This record gives sequence, structure tokens and C-alpha cells, in this order.
Amino acid sequence: MKSLAKALFIPLAFSATVMASMPASAHHQPGHSDELNTEMKKMGFNFKRSGSAKTIEDLQNYVTEFRTHAENAKKTGYADAPEAFQKGIDQLLTGLAGVQAALDQQDLDLAKQRMKKLNDIRKKYHSEFDV
Ligand code: HEM
Repeated sequence: MKSLAKALFIPLAFSATVMASMPASAHHQPGHSDELNTEMKKMGFNFKRSGSAKTIEDLQNYVTEFRTHAENAKKTGYADAPEAFQKGIDQLLTGLAGVQAALDQQDLDLAKQRMKKLNDIRKKYHSEFDV
């Protein structure tokens, strides 16, 4: 083979080999389950709308849904860091119990304030897990 053809062919053959060795869904990394992603997204949806809740009733509904999805996430687990994940979700659920206590006292502002604080736990673990 002429050297120019070689120079062109080798990198092409190399990338074709690399591509062929990649799984069909390269974004589907081990430990990143679609189930956990789905639960997190539902948590995110309810977390966001809790910020604009105008009534105890509305906030209660969002908090109840958020809790359901956080509990589902806890059951689903996270293969990359199982123990740290359980710890983080438990912290979230403990914080959420504080939100529920404020709701039980009919204190909408306090409940929203405590809900907002859960964002610190999200940030801590998302950065720890690079998500
Ligand atoms: C207010 C609390 C939280 C909210 C609203 C939230 C929301 C989200 C959202 C929306 C995603 C999906 C990102 C995307 O694919 O676009 C996500 C991913 C993730 N979150 Fe959270 N999160 C919260 C707390 C936590 C905590 C406490 C942990 C760990 C203990 C955690 C662990 C993860 C992990 C591991 C992923 C990646 C899942 C994957 O796609 O493989 N999150 N979260």
C-alpha cells in the first residue's frame, strides 16, 4: 500500500474498530439505571413546583409525590456508590420529614423554606457522584 493511502486508511480502520467495540447505547453506563433516572426526574418535577405552591393542600400533594419517588429511588439504589447513595437519600427523607412536620402545623412558609433547603443535599450528592 502506498504511504499516502496507508496514512488515510490506518486512522479510518482504527476508528471503525473503536466504534464497533462500543456498546449500542454508549450513554447507558453501568450503574446508571433508567429507573433511577426516571425517579430523579419525577423528584425534580415535584421539587420545582413545590417552590410555587400557594396552598398547604397543593404543597402537600407535591411533597407526597416527591416522597414516593425518593422512596422508589432508595429501593432502586445506585450501583456506582450504593452506601453513599443510601446515606444521601436517607438525609433527604429526614429533611422531608421536617417539611411534613411544618405542613402538619399548617405552616406553608416554613414548609416551603425547609423544602428549599433540600436543594443543599441534592447539590452535595450530585457533585459527589458527578451528576
Ligand atoms: C431535591 C433533591 C433532588 C432532586 C430534585 C434531584 C433531581 C435529579 C434529576 C432531575 C436527575 C436527572 C438528571 C438528568 O438525567 O437530566 C438526577 C440524577 C441523579 N441524582 Fe438526583 N436529585 C435530588 C437528590 C439526590 C440525592 C440526595 C442523591 C443521592 C443520594 C441523588 C442522586 C442522583 C444520581 C445518582 C443521579 C444520576 C442518575 C442516573 O441518571 O444515572 N439525587 N437527580
